[in-house]
Amino acid sequence: MKFFVDTADVAAIRDLHALGMVDGVTTNPSLILKSGRDIIEVTKEICSFVEGPVSAEVVALEADAMIAEGKKLAEIAPNIAIKLPLTWDGLKACKYFSDAGLMVNVTLCFSANQALLAAKAGATFISPFIGRLDDINLDGMDLIGDIRTIYDNYGFATEILAASIRTVNHVTQAALVGADVMTAPPEVIRKLASHPLTDAGLAQFMKDWEKTGQKIV
Ligand code: E4P
Repeated sequence: MKFFVDTADVAAIRDLHALGMVDGVTTNPSLILKSGRDIIEVTKEICSFVEGPVSAEVVALEADAMIAEGKKLAEIAPNIAIKLPLTWDGLKACKYFSDAGLMVNVTLCFSANQALLAAKAGATFISPFIGRLDDINLDGMDLIGDIRTIYDNYGFATEILAASIRTVNHVTQAALVGADVMTAPPEVIRKLASHPLTDAGLAQFMKDWEKTGQKIV
């Protein structure tokens, strides 16, 4: 499973990148707002050290305007994935960019039918939002499973990018159900390393080691 980091916080991305945990990055208008930085400038900085796909999202609502914005974002670096919303206009822009050989991440996907349309329009990635479905008492993971089945039934190459990941359990479930990629905030990725039995075991080992009076270096 590929790990994308869902943030525009460059320091946090660098931290995880140093450990080989960053296969790509996703941003959105809310994350750009949170970063307090200019979208072009911050995306360029991210692309200067992240080799994998870096999603940058358009904010226009009409296809021609989305295409104009997407072209500008694609100029930032060759590894930009143009992020487009799952609307009819977004699908038109998706087809345009996939025909042009550019990467597209179709975002705000909440149904299997939407995912089917995105694959037919040539999306590189489809982003079903797990957490936001859970927020309204639906099971986001069922959607990932349905999309996996549909894409496998017909051999679609579009990668399933599990998005809106809020918990470590979401990561496990998305991996079990066969998402190709997951994107999560840096703090969720860091939490994947935590386990209370690891902490307890380590504390016991430290206590016993101290009693030996030995040193390794
Ligand atoms: C995905 O590309 C989005 O940026 C993100 O995962 C949305 O997550 P949220 O629902 O926690 O805002």
